[in-house]
Amino acid sequence: MPAIVLVGAQWGDEGKGKATDALGAHVDYVVRFNGGNNAGHTVVIDGEKYALHLLPTGILTPTVTPVIGNGVVVDLSVLFAEIDLLNERGIDTSRLLVSANAHVIPPYNRTLDKVTERFLGSRRIGTTGRGIGPTYADKMNRVGIRVQDLFDEKILHAKVAGALALKNQVLVKVYNQRAITEDEVVEELLTFADRLRPMVADTALLLNQAVTEGKNVLLEGGQAALLDVDHGTYPFVTSSSATAGGACTGSGLPPTAIDKVIAVAKAYATRVGEGPFPTELHDEDGERLRRVGGEFGTTTGRPRRCGWYDAPVVRHAARINGVTDLVITKLDVLTGFDRIPVCVAYEVDGQRVDEIPMTQTDFHHAKPVYEWLPGWTEDVSGARDLTDLPTAARDYVQFLNDVSGAPISAVGVGQDRAATIVLRDLI
Ligand code: IMP
Repeated sequence: MPAIVLVGAQWGDEGKGKATDALGAHVDYVVRFNGGNNAGHTVVIDGEKYALHLLPTGILTPTVTPVIGNGVVVDLSVLFAEIDLLNERGIDTSRLLVSANAHVIPPYNRTLDKVTERFLGSRRIGTTGRGIGPTYADKMNRVGIRVQDLFDEKILHAKVAGALALKNQVLVKVYNQRAITEDEVVEELLTFADRLRPMVADTALLLNQAVTEGKNVLLEGGQAALLDVDHGTYPFVTSSSATAGGACTGSGLPPTAIDKVIAVAKAYATRVGEGPFPTELHDEDGERLRRVGGEFGTTTGRPRRCGWYDAPVVRHAARINGVTDLVITKLDVLTGFDRIPVCVAYEVDGQRVDEIPMTQTDFHHAKPVYEWLPGWTEDVSGARDLTDLPTAARDYVQFLNDVSGAPISAVGVGQDRAATIVLRDLI
């Protein structure tokens, strides 16, 4: 069993943290490969709730080596705040490794993320304001600051000065902000250097060695397919590759090392931030999904937009990721609805379209075509086998299995680690 990828199949917040945590006991490494502290992974273990933004979920499993891969952007103040919080709760974080090639989020990019959104007005993306986009832009522009730069003060000064030459022009002249000095940035970054140094490694080398030795590696994606910078609802996406391809570039493991791709999808759909969402509800049903599902952002606390399950969206995710196993989460949230619609296709300008339309314009015009399934009233949270479910809930799961483009291997029926129906062992 070499490397396994786990990704989101919708717009994020599918419950990937719980799935990763469930696999934790069977793997040796859990690697974050994209995004940064825009993510929010909630894990509940024995009633204790842990909300992680940057750290790999594997940090909660004592036998796992958690790794922050090269594809991640790291806010060092958040990294150490999360470590401190876990340490206070008795969690050992000493096994954590951070790629020397990961980029750090410098303070000016947090500022730029927020002011750019304000400047965009009605065209805003609804970002998390964590500096994610500007930091990936710097990486592509080759003016980024990497973890390894913190260990060469001269280089760090030169790189920060280079970046600020342009950033300050933009901050002052476009956004009317104060200029940021090279010294204040370098000083802030260097406060973390001593503590960071023992964690830093050539993680691509190490992970390849681990796979060669027959160790199990889980590559944990942040965000999701529809937020992927290439395959998502651009421009309403995050700035990283949140799909299986990104797992390779963001970790240094080759595609040939991956033999399983698990995608996680909610039994309905949610989205935070702006952008198209054909099955979005603006009525009491949407309110109810939000309330019962606790659909408020782990990272920003924003209420999530809620809607019905969108099968073409999940099929798209299944295709571009090569999904071998689908995990459906939060089935319990649907308990009590009389009838549950599932979007099976769209109507675009009077025409039925079975897959996500090619253009942004058409996707904005897409109206869902629903099939209505009967609901159920019984509590499903104690179910541990498909046969424990009421017939309507079982039929709902079977329907999703048939329309989602990948076979369902597990179904979540509650928040706790144990509240899962396993149809097929994931490992
Ligand atoms: P950014 O990643 O902060 O640049 O935000 C870009 C878009 O991705 C916004 O719509 C965010 O709400 C969304 N986003 C980023 N991370 C997550 C996540 O972990 N879950 C859900 N949405 C996210």
